[in-house]
Amino acid sequence: IKTQSDVLYRPLIHFSPTTGFMNDPNGLIFDGTHYHLYYQYDPFAPYAGHVHWGHAISTDMLHWEDQPIAIDETKDGEAFTGCTVLDVKNTSGLFDTDKGGMAAIYTRATPHKQTQYLAISKDNGQSFTEYAHNPVLDIGSNSFRDPKILFHKPTNQWVMVIAKSRLHQIAFYASIDLIHWTHLSDFGPSGLFGVDYECPNLLEIPVEGGGSRWVLFVSVNPGGPTGGSITQYFIGDFDGSRFTPGDTVIGLTDFAKDAYALQLYDNMPNGEAVAIAWLGNWQYCQELPTHSWRGAMTLPRTLALRHDAAGWLRLAQKPRGVEALRGAEIAFPTRRIAAGSSTQATLPLGGALELVMSVTVDERPHDLPLGDKGRTGRFVIVFGNEQGESLTIGFDAFSGQLWLDRNDLNGFSQPFFTGQFSTALNPDDRHFDIHLILDACTLEIFANGGLSVGTALIFPSNPLTFLRLEASGAGASIENLALYPLKKTMPR
Ligand code: FRU
Repeated sequence: IKTQSDVLYRPLIHFSPTTGFMNDPNGLIFDGTHYHLYYQYDPFAPYAGHVHWGHAISTDMLHWEDQPIAIDETKDGEAFTGCTVLDVKNTSGLFDTDKGGMAAIYTRATPHKQTQYLAISKDNGQSFTEYAHNPVLDIGSNSFRDPKILFHKPTNQWVMVIAKSRLHQIAFYASIDLIHWTHLSDFGPSGLFGVDYECPNLLEIPVEGGGSRWVLFVSVNPGGPTGGSITQYFIGDFDGSRFTPGDTVIGLTDFAKDAYALQLYDNMPNGEAVAIAWLGNWQYCQELPTHSWRGAMTLPRTLALRHDAAGWLRLAQKPRGVEALRGAEIAFPTRRIAAGSSTQATLPLGGALELVMSVTVDERPHDLPLGDKGRTGRFVIVFGNEQGESLTIGFDAFSGQLWLDRNDLNGFSQPFFTGQFSTALNPDDRHFDIHLILDACTLEIFANGGLSVGTALIFPSNPLTFLRLEASGAGASIENLALYPLKKTMPR
């Protein structure tokens, strides 16, 4: 049965399953024409369990066409997370022609065993047939999962990264045929400990301004610093057999808590690094206030490495391709907000919204008594409604930090569904820029040019109908502000 919340919280431009429960993105690949999105899917109920691979395809990663389930749960177990590759040289020998085709490698999971299975598709990813002699990789463990494979050109072989989850290690394996796998090395425990390491991903990612570095992503659950699920990353080098981090820094892809199990697209043209993460957290995903469906994906994000203001190499994320969905700009003429005042615009009902803005908060008066310093110079973005609900994103110019507050929304409450998150932008800087996308139950914030990203589920009990900008303590100048409705140009 569809309830009102099933409709109210359904994102427009973020992928969500029509019915059932969805978690991790799987098998992300560009086949030359379509982008494929497979996903962890229970088609029977809005809870995790009976995991199949759901499937959708797109030509822009924003308009998705649902496809039949691609991989079923079988007597060998559920079809857990994995990847697809294009075996274009038929290295596996499993395809009929030298042109090869698409192969999927994923974990078959029972409570007692997690082993890696190979399946091939002769219809371009619509359906898969399992290899006759599975599993292709079995180390006799019940915590060994989520293989992700790339073709490593310098050593001319397939490389698999996979989690030895409870050992808090990422293992590397090599193969020339996708069938026989040789152990290369183990990485970790490193960075966050948590309970399980999951969904490792490895890619050489371009550095803005030239060059590239290898980045290893590791999802950790539970035990993330914001609670529950979190995706961490390490920047370093990969020589074909071993990943060596360049330092001991733990990078987190998000300052909030709803971007997990990030997976990278394979076979992207021109070396573009694109990722989609599950917009959720294991702490509450099975209790969210929708009933016929649960789960959403983040927007596709282009990833790059950038030297920040202090010279450190960091991950920068950018929503991919949303400009094409922009409707007519919503006028917001104000460019100057005096201290203690605010200005407001009415939002169109329903649909998705994009806000791009950059702001400089005035310098604090020099004659303030010392203790007053912390109480001055805040700029607040409020999405609210007449029922008194509000979602706020605020910038504190004194400390150069940004907060996100989803506490004053009344559609969902649960002990782990914590409401306030923050991130440090540039210290001692009164300027900030933000690019955010609000789409039903999802909020994605890209601040500081994408160096600080916050992804959050949001559950207002009534639609958010206005946007208010407030300045307190000091006035603020808005250098750039554009507000757009985002629209689909093709039906689902
Ligand atoms: C991550 C994860 C994976 C596993 C899948 C099961 O969210 O726990 O480790 O393969 O979900 O659905």
